[in-house]
Amino acid sequence: KETNAQLIIDAGQKHFGATICKSCGMIYTASNPEDEMQHVQYHHRFLEGIKYTGWKKERVVAEFWDGKIVLVLPRDPAYALRKVEDVQELADHELGFQQVVPKCPNKTKTFLFVSDEKKVVGCLVAEPIKQAFRLLSEPSGPESSNSKECPRAWQCSNVPEPAVCGISRIWVFRLQRRKRIARRLVDTVRNCFMFGCFLSTNEIAFSDPTPDGKLFATKYCNT
Ligand code: ACO
Ligand code: ZN
Repeated sequence: KETNAQLIIDAGQKHFGATICKSCGMIYTASNPEDEMQHVQYHHRFLEGIKYTGWKKERVVAEFWDGKIVLVLPRDPAYALRKVEDVQELADHELGFQQVVPKCPNKTKTFLFVSDEKKVVGCLVAEPIKQAFRLLSEPSGPESSNSKECPRAWQCSNVPEPAVCGISRIWVFRLQRRKRIARRLVDTVRNCFMFGCFLSTNEIAFSDPTPDGKLFATKYCNT
């Protein structure tokens, strides 16, 4: 690997340096055959995974000028559940997570944001919960020295607060971020999770947020 990196010098090649693929979002070195091969593999898997062909019976719960949100429930047809699995696998791969096993698989609700290009570019997994622990602001004092080793160890309050809906996963395709897709997914969950009411931000909780997730959640809950 190291020798490869050293071999990449700008000799005026067309494909010098790092490239970001505009379709799958992978960053790779086009002049490195190994990298290029890995990209080709990922590229196909990714595009296959997010491809949305349209379903006969789809539950559209929100529509926008640039896409729609489709809700998938545990008893839905196999093709819908398979799509949810594929998308979640891609999200997990990016997050470096092991597969999450939902506590109550028959109560999970998955919301997919489908772009007008017929691709699943966002995914949110929600499940009913009874309580949550408030995330305290930035760790301070001696604890903060640990933050490098354990970036996910945010400090939580130890006082449980009642909550209704847990967001165990939220993911937006890298090249479609900062277009309010996550915001619209959470808005839709608040509207659809419990029939007939709009959940307050106090009634939803993000589980084990990543740094991105925390930035988003902090912003979302304050506005
Ligand atoms: N840095 C700083 N602020 C951010 C970020 C960020 N990375 N992401 C969102 N925000 C804030 C911004 O204020 C933004 O508004 P603005 O663009 O007008 O400034 C606001 O949140 C709303 O952002 P959205 O556009 O709705 O968020 P987006 O669609 O980009 O999705 C998400 C955010 C889901 C966190 C995305 O970055 C992502 O998929 N990241 C990788 C996966 C991940 O870490 N997911 C969270 C895991 S935690 C969990 O699942 C419970
Ligand atoms: Zn690609």
